[in-house]
Amino acid sequence: MTETWATRAGLDLFLAPEAARGARPRRALEDALRDAVRTGRLAAGTRVPSSRSLAADLGIARNTVAEVYGQLVAEGWFEARVGSGTWVGERPRPAARPAPPERTTRPAADLRAGLPDGTQLPRSAWTAATRRAIEALGPGELGYTPRVGLPRLREEVAEYVARTRGVVARPDDVVVTTGFSETLALVCAALRASGARRLAVEAYGHERHRAIARAAGLDLQVLPVDDDGARVDLLDADAVLLTPAHQFPTGVPLAPARRVAVARWAEATDGLVVEDDYDGELRYDRRPVGALQALAPGHVVYAGTANKAFAPSLGVGWAVAPGWLVAELERIRADRGVRADGLGQAVLADLLATHAYDRHVRRVRVAYRERRDRLAAALASRVPRAQLRGLPAGLHVVVELPDGVAASAAVEAGERHGVLFEALADFRAAVPGIVGGADADGRCVVVGFGAPPAHAYAAALEGTVAALAEAAG
Ligand SMILES: Cc1ncc(COP(=O)(O)O)c(C=O)c1O
Repeated sequence: MTETWATRAGLDLFLAPEAARGARPRRALEDALRDAVRTGRLAAGTRVPSSRSLAADLGIARNTVAEVYGQLVAEGWFEARVGSGTWVGERPRPAARPAPPERTTRPAADLRAGLPDGTQLPRSAWTAATRRAIEALGPGELGYTPRVGLPRLREEVAEYVARTRGVVARPDDVVVTTGFSETLALVCAALRASGARRLAVEAYGHERHRAIARAAGLDLQVLPVDDDGARVDLLDADAVLLTPAHQFPTGVPLAPARRVAVARWAEATDGLVVEDDYDGELRYDRRPVGALQALAPGHVVYAGTANKAFAPSLGVGWAVAPGWLVAELERIRADRGVRADGLGQAVLADLLATHAYDRHVRRVRVAYRERRDRLAAALASRVPRAQLRGLPAGLHVVVELPDGVAASAAVEAGERHGVLFEALADFRAAVPGIVGGADADGRCVVVGFGAPPAHAYAAALEGTVAALAEAAG
């Protein structure tokens, strides 16, 4: 006798081992089926197996099953449909949960920093890549994906980051992760395991990333950020997390002299730089500044992600790491039981190999630049005393409001106008000792322009500009 049964309609259901066993199989089966309906394992509208096939699966008489079905039909648990078998009925459902209260406010346009517009995704190229990837998966690739990533994807990523960002990368240096957050968690764990105690972070950034470092057991040194980026001359740590191409979220690039200085610092102290290149592909003015990693490949882990230029739901990021760190990242992933999705990796490898990924990035770069230009133009005409700060790059801008205007007032005005954006201060490390970049931050808001679908952007832009104009008086 078996513990599961199957139908010709393809239904598998786990029945408790005692179902249909013992001296009273009919009673046991009835109870098991009622229980399956009551708990929702057998959903209303499901066709149940024919009495013949269930009887065969359970090794009991067909009549017994037919009688059980008859009984459950009589009680309303099942429905018999002429010519099409027996179905789970609608009636004995667990009490429905009360409906949530209706929203009284319009949902806000989400203008938080850094979210891309999912409607821009190249769905047909993505579908075609998925089809090709499935067709091309060799028997070896259908097994467990190596912890460090699918070999084809490691090759494609090495080529892509070398070509587009100037990273010094061989396929063996690449570790595929689920995104920057996982890369950071793994790197912090590797640092801690190697005896490191302190990670320096920029004064502005995601609290989520600082929390990941703390959770790995690292103390934080907070580096002030000024118009040349993070004050790396103040470094007093084992490693440093930087966003050199486009400081997040202030938008300033790390000045060339500081890039060189931090590379020299890492070499001299055997320190590690974690380079978060979250939006390196989305630069709108001139040729992108290449990756810092190229200045000291043995001491920099370059971290990229497809979650910005493509979509967070893809859930793929990558690290290009020095050899010792690749081995450590692999070990830590194994200890944590993490193994990425091989099919998703095969699809991304195809998108990269066919340059569909590049074409997508080029297309969205044009679209996002246009959004940024529209925002800049609207602000210049309607809130002329506000200033945009930071490089024209990425999916957000920092707007510095005029003297005396609090960012919090602008955020509240945004809510009234149906748009959600954040104050720059929300990104500041809650650690004392910041000396730079703080003069204006109480007047700065961070406005993302990536997330709204194209057709909703005009309204989101109008709401934003109206809110900022209102706050600025
Ligand atoms: C500064 C920064 N780094 C990295 C990321 C990407 O993180 P993940 O790949 O975990 O989505 C983001 C996304 O919001 C970000 O803002």
